[in-house]
Amino acid sequence: MDKEKLIQYGLEEQLLPKHVAIIMDGNGRWAKKRLMPRSYGHKKGVERVREIVRASSFFGIQAITLYAFSTENWKRPKEEVGVLMSLLTQYLQSEVKELHDNGVRFRMIGHREGLSPSLQELIKNAEDKTRENTTLNLTVAINYGGRDELDHAAIAFAKDVVTGQCMLDSKEFQKRLYTAGLPEVDYLIRTSGEQRISNFLLYQAAYAELYFTDIYWPDFDTEQYAKALKEFAVRNRRYGGL
Ligand code: IPE
Ligand code: IPE
Ligand code: MG
Repeated sequence: MDKEKLIQYGLEEQLLPKHVAIIMDGNGRWAKKRLMPRSYGHKKGVERVREIVRASSFFGIQAITLYAFSTENWKRPKEEVGVLMSLLTQYLQSEVKELHDNGVRFRMIGHREGLSPSLQELIKNAEDKTRENTTLNLTVAINYGGRDELDHAAIAFAKDVVTGQCMLDSKEFQKRLYTAGLPEVDYLIRTSGEQRISNFLLYQAAYAELYFTDIYWPDFDTEQYAKALKEFAVRNRRYGGL
């Protein structure tokens, strides 16, 4: 954490969320506004991923989870799916060293078997290489759907209960979610003006504070991020209590 940066952006350490989840939306509309192809928006979006991951480190956020590709995004034209998959591949190829040098632990959540073997391999290597890091937990949701995650966890849990591998206990169920081991999500940000969850972290966001901004993802810079974090600081969380 960089105390000077916190002061510069008007943030206070003890009022920061521990786990921020972001629905990075609006790449296509951002590009369209500039009369550019949607792929241009996705490329710019990757630059913001780099920036927001770095900013999370210097603000001292413990965990950030980014929604990169949903189980529903396969419905898009195959050229666009191809662009998104190759950007994810490039990101992993170019970024893992820097992430590792900065003490970032990388994880992927989502249905891995649905991805190409080469992408699965890159993901696994990134996870293995950064496993011991503790500065920031970076989780990228790829081929992720909250319902798919719950189905997957329910089946694994039922199997393990039936075969006597675990107790019929909700903690055991939670251990079978893709996010096992990560802190509770306390802030869910969505860019681009849409105000919906789109199948993201259905279980984990139960008591998350929600933040919606009209800014498209390629324009969501450190300044915008700090603005969102400042808003979190003034939220009053009650968890059903008084
Ligand atoms: C977010 O931007 C990136 C992904 C969903 C992969 P979109 O591609 O959804 O952009 P819009 O919402 O069409 O503007
Ligand atoms: C949500 O954005 C998924 C990601 C950001 C990866 P979408 O653009 O796919 O969501 P909808 O279709 O607007 O709900
Ligand atoms: Mg969208």
